[in-house]
Amino acid sequence: MASYIVLGLASLHGVRAWGVLGHATVAYVAQNFVTAEVATWAKGVLGDTSTSYLANIASWADTYRATTAGAWSAPLHFIDAEDNPPTTCNVNYARDCGATGCVVSALANYTQRVGDGRLSAANTAEALRFLVHFVGDITQPLHDEAYELGANGVTVHFNGFTDNLHSDWDTYMPEQLIGGDTLADALSWATTLTADINTGAYKSLKAGWIAGDTPTDTVTTATRWASDANALVCTVVMPNGAAALTAMTDLYPTYYDGVIGTIELQIAKGGYRLANWLNLIYTSEVVRRELVDAVEKRGDSRALVPLERSVVPESELDGHKFLPAPRELSKAKLARAAVGYGCNHQH
Ligand SMILES: *[C@@H]1O[C@H](CO)[C@@H](O)[C@H](O)[C@H]1NC(C)=O
Ligand SMILES: [Zn+2]
Repeated sequence: MASYIVLGLASLHGVRAWGVLGHATVAYVAQNFVTAEVATWAKGVLGDTSTSYLANIASWADTYRATTAGAWSAPLHFIDAEDNPPTTCNVNYARDCGATGCVVSALANYTQRVGDGRLSAANTAEALRFLVHFVGDITQPLHDEAYELGANGVTVHFNGFTDNLHSDWDTYMPEQLIGGDTLADALSWATTLTADINTGAYKSLKAGWIAGDTPTDTVTTATRWASDANALVCTVVMPNGAAALTAMTDLYPTYYDGVIGTIELQIAKGGYRLANWLNLIYTSEVVRRELVDAVEKRGDSRALVPLERSVVPESELDGHKFLPAPRELSKAKLARAAVGYGCNHQH
């Protein structure tokens, strides 16, 4: 019952995961750090040679989710960590992912799919669109938290509006900072964040954002990304609990001033990670292609071993192997799966 009420509240504001501004900014930051080869490859996959080739599709997954055909993908935008903020924060993939998938399994699925080379052009483009979006979503702390459906159920006041904490983190606090939500606004924000990454406050942090990232083990990598953001729920998002925020007359300016730096950090981090991830995927795809060529054209048997190891059966490209085993799921996840999961859940 409660979740239907939440849906009502959420749709009033048209909540999107990081709003359009946040996702486009993540994409523009990423465009500044992909290699020239990856930029050419991504433009070809997406059929868009413009200077906004990633930003243009960064919110496609939210639009798709809102359609009848795309409703199945709603659970892929978040992972519901069943922790206990602000006392304890943690992500446990087996406990938290859910039988119908989550942002971690989705990143694994689309990482494999975008680099596979056997899928149709349409399926490859879909995989890249999902990846660009989900690397953004996973850096939003409330996309890695089950409490009150990622705080969609935490009513607060911001700038004179009554809304919920999730939408303020996704959309209204970023827009307060930048003053709009157009692609031009996102480009301008991305330019600032890129300078921070190259020469400013993030210069010494960026190596840590991508340390250990491995496309052949996306579940481990993306669970680390989720854990990193989820920890912020306890330390920054609601360090004194949700009730303390509901009780505030307005989150602006005191709460906003305290958290906006973390929002900027997470957007920059998402963009830098996305670029590195695409660079790594591209490299491994090129390696795979070269191995295929070596075997087919030159009959080079030395290439056979790594080729066999890197190519998964086509039947596994549906991503089922990335889901947690049902026996590992928590009671809450099994109960939710039994009643149908996703369409009334608005992270
Ligand atoms: C993997 O992606 C395909 C294509 O979008 C989708 O049909 C499938 O359900 C996904 N698998 C998982 C486990 O998310
Ligand atoms: Zn989303």
